[in-house]
Amino acid sequence: MSLDVVEGKPIRTLISEAQLQTRIAELGAQITQDYAASHHFVVIGVLRGCFLFLSDLVRHIRLPLVVDFLGLSSYGGRTATSGVVRVTSDLSIPILGCDVLVVEDIIDTGLTMNYLLENLRTRQPHSIKICSLLEKPARLVQPVQIDYLGFTIPNQFVIGYGLDYQDRYRNLPYIGVVDGGLHE
Ligand code: IMP
Ligand code: MG
Repeated sequence: MSLDVVEGKPIRTLISEAQLQTRIAELGAQITQDYAASHHFVVIGVLRGCFLFLSDLVRHIRLPLVVDFLGLSSYGGRTATSGVVRVTSDLSIPILGCDVLVVEDIIDTGLTMNYLLENLRTRQPHSIKICSLLEKPARLVQPVQIDYLGFTIPNQFVIGYGLDYQDRYRNLPYIGVVDGGLHE
């Protein structure tokens, strides 16, 4: 079994490992500046797609911070994204009065992030900002203000660096696409 093909089709590199790492270092530096005065800084990763991005990003944030995770899964398949999202694993700490930075792999329709923001706001953090590695504006249904963005990508299904196709390929160190498309 090879990791570089999906259903017999080759994976083309859309964003290389070097490009990812350069951009993530820039984001980390910017976040370090912006949160320098925060006393209760909490970085929340949205599982599972965030796991590589978050681990690289926090190594470039030179501030004391708390890391926590939240597991979400959409009802139905990917193509049937309805915005009805289930919390499969909740935060392990309260975020009352904290400066929260939500770290996501991709904002696609925006439905997941809007649901999550609504949920987190009820816990009364001091502030909430969003850091997303990718955005796919062509598919946006519900606008999301992304405070820190890695890359804008075309309307193609991407895999790697945390993002999955049928639960696999998350461990590719780059972002890839399969030309001709995949059945999401
Ligand atoms: P949204 O609610 O449509 O914004 O969905 C966001 C979620 O869908 C992301 O957190 C990903 O888990 C998943 N997703 C969206 N686009 C892609 C993609 O191109 N590849 C892999 N997963 C994706
Ligand atoms: Mg995700």
